[in-house]
Amino acid sequence: MAKTYKIAVIPGDGTGPEVIREGRKVLSALADKYGFKIDFIEYDLGGERYLKTGETLPDTVLEELRTVDAIYLGAIGHPDVKPGILEQGILLKLRFSLDQYINLRPVKLYPGVWTPLKDKGPEDIDFVVVRENTEGLYCGSGGFLKKGTKDEVAVQESINTRKGVERCIRYAFEFTKKRNKRKTLTLCGKTNVLTYAFDLWERTFHEVGQEYPEIKREYAHVDATCMWMVKNPEWFDVIVTDNMFGDIITDLGAIIQGGMGIAAGGNINPDEGGVSMFEPIGGSAPKYTGKNVINPLAAICAGGMMLDYLGEKDAAESLERSVMKVTAEKLKSLSAGRMGYSTTEVGDLVVEFLE
Ligand code: IPM
Ligand code: MN
Repeated sequence: MAKTYKIAVIPGDGTGPEVIREGRKVLSALADKYGFKIDFIEYDLGGERYLKTGETLPDTVLEELRTVDAIYLGAIGHPDVKPGILEQGILLKLRFSLDQYINLRPVKLYPGVWTPLKDKGPEDIDFVVVRENTEGLYCGSGGFLKKGTKDEVAVQESINTRKGVERCIRYAFEFTKKRNKRKTLTLCGKTNVLTYAFDLWERTFHEVGQEYPEIKREYAHVDATCMWMVKNPEWFDVIVTDNMFGDIITDLGAIIQGGMGIAAGGNINPDEGGVSMFEPIGGSAPKYTGKNVINPLAAICAGGMMLDYLGEKDAAESLERSVMKVTAEKLKSLSAGRMGYSTTEVGDLVVEFLE
């Protein structure tokens, strides 16, 4: 009997539904070709539901999400909802509640894609960022004193636990070992200033690294990492870093690989029975909503990462090859409205090129 995957789909806000529609189209086509089945279960989480009911992520929904094979997310963020409510109430709550402690973000320039980096091509831009996804400055630890007065104090603490740091670093070493590249893992930190947090990271990095003698260990401060990502991106194979730095450097990563139209990521809980979530890393792009002009490739690539994670490696590779053909032979640009094709047509092209 064909294997069936239960996938929760959260199209979300803005252009989320449009890009997820194309992603589902590609995933369904691959399921037919490669002999597996996908049951998609849609959830209407997002800004509209919040505005109607005041709910972000109800506990009953969260409990259902714990039982699926993976979650496929479009975008969260609504122009009529105060910034922070949906991000914290849905996206971060999912990451934390499901203990998706890895945010895996490949930075790979596909053929035919324009990069703002002069004289760099697909052979130079191909690395992966392993971002810690449940700790650091994202914990919400801190508070105000004397709020609203001239003596106001705001404290925002970065929480780094040995357990949290170690499991992230260990994942990064394992990932580097499996990846067929330079076998180099770079710790991105700020040991010269954040002398507690990154002391823990650095010690853990070298301790765990002893178990991986075949992996070369490198270190770069976060500011220097930004510089090298622009100047010599070919130096990187895998980068491991904390939540905040990972957030920042992966936007830089997205732009050197061609922009938000192509950048995908996975929020991964690698543990037994863990539920992972895959998403395009760009936002809900309200100004393009409903126009059929947004680039669905990031969502499609997130679908590819999901297939890889589910163990459908051949289907995942087929998806990536097809996306590369579309970027190399068809699209004029990856930017919304300038692709030379509509959102729907780009999805159709990816399906057409599947082997
Ligand atoms: C990301 C986003 C989120 C983050 C926001 C929306 C909370 O920027 O996925 O990178 O900071 O993690
Ligand atoms: Mn971000």
